Amino acid sequence: MRRKSLPNDVTTQKHGHVLAELFLPAGCLDTPGYAIDVHSVQTKLDQNEHPSDWPRELKTRVMRKLLKQEWNRYPEPHSARLRSAVATYVGVSEERVLLGASSSQLIGLIVSALAHGSGRTILATPSFPLYERVLGFVDRRAETWRLSADFKFDLGSLTKLRARDVLILASPNNPTGSFLAKADLLWLLERNPMTLFIVDAAYAEFAPEDYTNLLGRFDNLLLLRTVSKALGGAGIRVGFALGDPKLMRQLSKLEPPYALNRFALTAVTCLLEDREALAWVAEETQKIIAERDRLVGAINELNADVDVFDSAGNFLLLRFRTAAACRLVYDGLVHAGVLIRDVSPGAGLERCLRVTIGSRDENQHFLNSLQGCSITTSDGK
Ligand SMILES: Cc1ncc(COP(=O)(O)O)c(C=O)c1O
Repeated sequence: MRRKSLPNDVTTQKHGHVLAELFLPAGCLDTPGYAIDVHSVQTKLDQNEHPSDWPRELKTRVMRKLLKQEWNRYPEPHSARLRSAVATYVGVSEERVLLGASSSQLIGLIVSALAHGSGRTILATPSFPLYERVLGFVDRRAETWRLSADFKFDLGSLTKLRARDVLILASPNNPTGSFLAKADLLWLLERNPMTLFIVDAAYAEFAPEDYTNLLGRFDNLLLLRTVSKALGGAGIRVGFALGDPKLMRQLSKLEPPYALNRFALTAVTCLLEDREALAWVAEETQKIIAERDRLVGAINELNADVDVFDSAGNFLLLRFRTAAACRLVYDGLVHAGVLIRDVSPGAGLERCLRVTIGSRDENQHFLNSLQGCSITTSDGK
């Protein structure tokens, strides 16, 4: 959308949309808002959430701690205790940790600030749509690093990186599940010391390799993590960035004071300081990974017109032969009480649906319902 030239008399612009056009960057006006299908269903597998709520005892401990606090007072200014708990959880020093009210919030702050450099912004796509949206808000157009036809990171198709470029990728990547091998990331980092690598590792706990110890060797690597996925705290809204202490110190200036509320601070600190709770997280993670593998096998055995891609996250991407089949399956699943994510409007994701790995029962409900739909799919081709 072209920005309108400013009229002589701004006060004649009375309607909201006209004012928006006058004052917001064109990239923001062009960017669609966050959209999600809301259906009330029995089996909710559309947002890559954790299938289990936190253990009752843990929630009770959090509530007891909250009851003792003074809610009329601002929380701890630098969230030192949670920062220390996060540092221990991931195995880095505290100065490498920047906390945020969700990784989405950190993406907004960090990407919009770092995209102002003089280099290019390169985005591995298709990926988590928030990146393109945030770049749109600041009127920055990214070059794309397209994943291969079967959604793999292909180093051969990456543009030659230059000093001051920012490369953004998610690994495990949402919604494709693709994972950039640690050796490949290492290869890129070694050859491009002046490029900044922002690697969104929101699903790190489900992945076969952990990038964290690369932080000690490369100050141009920034990792993004979240409490929303394997840690089961999507409703709490806490994320963290890990990186070079000097960069983290500068980025911390972008955050509003007291960005994390008492509830979030208390809840996540309780989780990370509790060995039993962490053992619960580890056990649940293994269950989800095992269910993911079971689902891949079961979908392949359905003999339906669907491809399922390898995933290193808590979700799977399915691609159907035709757009009609994709729609039929999505609607058929909703009808059967199973909500998954229709990602097919995204560029490069035509005919694709994404399903979150749920509990065993939820996954079985999904599989049974998919089987029902698949028969219709073959008939309806
Ligand atoms: C790759 C990726 N990054 C970040 C996020 C956002 O996580 P949060 O809940 O911390 O905002 C998501 C959420 O689905 C995601 O898939």
